Amino acid sequence: MQLEEKVASGDESNPCLSKSTRLPRKRFYRARAHSNPLSDSHFPVPTSPLHVDYSLHFPHFFPSPDSPKKIEFADIGCGFGGLLISLATLFPDTLMIGMELRDKVTEYVKERILALRVSNPGQYQNVSVVRTNSMKYIPNYFEKAQLSKMFFLFPDPHFKEKNHRRRVISPFLLDEYAYVIKPGGIIYTITDVEELGEWMKSCLENHPMFESLTEEELEADPVVKLLSCATEEGQKVSRNGGQTFKAVFRRIVLKD
Ligand SMILES: C[S@@+](CC[C@H](N)C(=O)[O-])C[C@H]1O[C@@H](n2cnc3c(N)ncnc32)[C@H](O)[C@@H]1O
Repeated sequence: MQLEEKVASGDESNPCLSKSTRLPRKRFYRARAHSNPLSDSHFPVPTSPLHVDYSLHFPHFFPSPDSPKKIEFADIGCGFGGLLISLATLFPDTLMIGMELRDKVTEYVKERILALRVSNPGQYQNVSVVRTNSMKYIPNYFEKAQLSKMFFLFPDPHFKEKNHRRRVISPFLLDEYAYVIKPGGIIYTITDVEELGEWMKSCLENHPMFESLTEEELEADPVVKLLSCATEEGQKVSRNGGQTFKAVFRRIVLKD
C-alpha cells in the first residue's frame, strides 16, 4: 500500500502517524533547514495553468475535471502548512494551495491534509500543497488575475546582499504576483527579521501595482490576525517573544 493510501485509510501500521491523533509526526519528515531556490530540482511542473490537475488536489470539488472552480489563495513557502489548515475551515468554499520547495516538508503537509480529511469528513477538501519553486513556476500554476490572496509568511531572510536575489519578494517577482493577483486581491507578508520586513515593505511601496491597506482595513480583515500565530514559524517567534513586521498590500484596480 502506498503511504498516501495508508494515511487516507487511517492504516494502523503506518509508523509515521501518531497513534492517538492519526496525524503525521514531524520527526519522520526531517528536512534541511534551507533549499537553494536558484538550483534546479527535479519535480514535475505543469506546462501551463490549464495543465494543473485539480482532480488530484481537490477530488471532492472535482469529481470530473471540467468544474469551473479555481484556486484562489496561494501560500508561498508554506512550510508545515499551519496557515492553510486554519484558512481551510475559515473559507470552506475557497480552493487554496501551499507551494513548498522542500520535498519532505511538502510530503508532511500532504499527509497532514489527508489525515485531516479522514478525521473530519467533508472538511479540508479545499486545501492542497505542491512541491515547487515559486520563484520560477508561479505562471505555470496561475492565470492572469486568478488569485485573491497570496501569503508570504516568515520567508527565508537571505541576509547577505549577494543572496538578496533569492528572496521571494523582489521588484521583479512582484511583477509576476501583480499579474496573477486579481485587482483588489491582497498580498500578505510577515517576518521577524526587521531588515527583511523593511525590504518587503519598500518593494511593495515602490511597485506601481500595489497600495497599502489602511489601519481600519487591517483591523477588519480576519486573515491579518492569523499571520503571526497560524504558522509553525510564527508560533516559534511568538514563544521566543520575538517582534514581527507585517506588510499587507492590495493589487490596485486600474481606472479606465
Ligand atoms: C522560514 S520557512 C516559513 C514557513 C511557513 N511560511 C511558516 O511561517 O511557518 C520558509 C519556507 O519557504 C520555503 N521556500 C523557500 N524558497 C522557496 C521557493 N522558492 N519556493 C517554494 N518554497 C520556498 C522553504 O523551504 C521553507 O519551508
